[in-house]
Amino acid sequence: MKVLVIGGGGREHAMAWKLLQSPKVQTVFVAPGNGGTAADKRLHNVAITDHAALADFAQAERITLTVVGPEVPLAGGVVDLFRERGLRIFGPTQAAAQLESSKAFAKAFMKRHAIPTAAYEVFSDAAAAHAYVTAQGAPIVIKADGLAAGKGVVVAASLDEAHQAIDWMLNPRDNNSDNGNNGNNDNNDNNDNNAAANPLGVQHNAGGARVVIEEFLDGEEASFIVMCDGKNVVSLATSQDHKRLLDADAGPNTGGMGAYSPAPVVTPNVHAKVMKEIIHPTIAGMAAEGIVFTGFLYAGLMIDAQGQPRTVEFNCRMGDPETQPILMRLKSDLFDVLMSATDGSLNEVELEWDRRAALGVVMAAHGYPLDPRKGDAITGLPSEAADAVVFHAGTSLKDGQPVTSGGRVLCITVLADSVKLAQQRAYDLLQPIQYSGMQFRRDIGFRAIKR
Ligand code: AMP
Ligand code: GLY
Repeated sequence: MKVLVIGGGGREHAMAWKLLQSPKVQTVFVAPGNGGTAADKRLHNVAITDHAALADFAQAERITLTVVGPEVPLAGGVVDLFRERGLRIFGPTQAAAQLESSKAFAKAFMKRHAIPTAAYEVFSDAAAAHAYVTAQGAPIVIKADGLAAGKGVVVAASLDEAHQAIDWMLNPRDNNSDNGNNGNNDNNDNNDNNAAANPLGVQHNAGGARVVIEEFLDGEEASFIVMCDGKNVVSLATSQDHKRLLDADAGPNTGGMGAYSPAPVVTPNVHAKVMKEIIHPTIAGMAAEGIVFTGFLYAGLMIDAQGQPRTVEFNCRMGDPETQPILMRLKSDLFDVLMSATDGSLNEVELEWDRRAALGVVMAAHGYPLDPRKGDAITGLPSEAADAVVFHAGTSLKDGQPVTSGGRVLCITVLADSVKLAQQRAYDLLQPIQYSGMQFRRDIGFRAIKR
């Protein structure tokens, strides 16, 4: 059978890699794909991003199943369009994707359904936002409303930083209409055209002229991802991402610099609480509001010292780079699972996981996240093994050789008996890889190792 993966990042490379392992899958198309999916003779890149053209392609090629990686096509209604045309696709509808595409929608939704999250207010008026921040004090969190690839958020340690963030997000004088995150996401963490002048790494007017100002939550973060078929929910292995650019969680927020699975902070007790207090009420709350949720639902959690989880954000897709370690640990046939998820029979699915840990280290381009450079030649890539894969993200092929083409370039992902061993192996594997200006963290997995 033929499968179509929409997207071109490391997450989509990992999905395509995993789908190829199914004996039922003959061909995997990736639209648009990247240099890694182009170099793999078993995968086929398709240079289409337009939704109607993708549906035409799926029809013409008799694609059995389509799965969507990034948020941009979901928020743009690609699932609605495929379904109207009778095509099988896994993902949320445009209405359901609002849980991610509008932070204001998500926050109001959580308030209506008593889902634990940070207290907040929404502002479109800069003066009112400044006054609120002054009254609340720091630390405080300022978020642009709309899709911002994890970069429209400032966790302000001081009031000065908070006021500056409000100016960057709400002040019309500097806005640049070029800056919407309108590309097919993820190997283009590079939409921040004029962000170089911006000390906070905030996208100008990243998601429209509204900000959400939130209470600062203290604790440890985890990524909690489930699959939902509209009625039934199956949780994936837990994971933890590293959102800041530099070691020890310093520097600006990024799309994610590395991840590992499982996340020990999600104890069985925390897991049960998340399902009961966050996941089930979210699916039920959406249904009560007339929106059937299908697709991956990703709750970004902050878990406090008492083990109480709160929702930092929802995404309506898998995480990148969390997908890379998660799918390396998945033993079940992903094609079968996705067929069940689009048949409404996830209640019959029990996912099987490798007991080992998986860890992925992201290598980013020169200048990421503010101004990633393209076109640097990449050398020294290791060959693939069953327990060690270099997933590509922002790469393309130039005369058959890989070059950088986006913010996050590669994700070196390995399976090993512990997070510590996986970390060692990943950094060993990374050693020979070279390109000008490469950036990566040297401490991926540190929280799990510290435990
Ligand atoms: P978001 O795009 O909402 O996931 O935010 C990006 C990152 O900012 C999160 O992964 C957290 O590290 C941090 N963050 C967001 N909201 C809060 C909050 N209310 N308290 C503390 N940290 C936060
Ligand atoms: N790695 C964070 C995300 O995918 O949103």
